[in-house]
Amino acid sequence: MAILPIVMFPEKILKQKCDKITSFDKKLAKLLNNMYETMVEADGVGLAAPQVGVKKQVAVVEIEEGSGAIELINPEVLEAEGEQTGVEGCLSFPDIYGEVSRPYRVKVRAQDRKGNFFEIEAEDFLARAIQHEMDHLQGVLFTSKVSRYITEEELERFEEK
Ligand code: NI
Repeated sequence: MAILPIVMFPEKILKQKCDKITSFDKKLAKLLNNMYETMVEADGVGLAAPQVGVKKQVAVVEIEEGSGAIELINPEVLEAEGEQTGVEGCLSFPDIYGEVSRPYRVKVRAQDRKGNFFEIEAEDFLARAIQHEMDHLQGVLFTSKVSRYITEEELERFEEK
């Protein structure tokens, strides 16, 4: 495995719509393994392929280290309900945090690294992380959804809660 360089805003690739994966091959497995390692190393809870310079619909999410990576390939939202507002950051925007409102619960259909379809239901913070990464695959950045930016000081207060 290898740590990949993370693409920072305003690199163009971050605003592009990613292509679907059609070959579920060794190259994809390697990309997923490297993305996971890169996310853990960067202390992130999710990472999308365009953030490592690959314009493909691939994302990994793991909101608690060691809980098991969720690999999402060609994901689609099937259902979304409710609303939550919380603080988000992004590995491509160091030191920028803001409040974003998103559906509270989502049901997503995606493919795994072998191409098998599966569905996942998530709520609360996991739903937020999945939606943030899925937005990346459409070239949508969290900053376009921030209702209020927050300072590092405020962030510390959030974390103390
Ligand atoms: Ni992000």
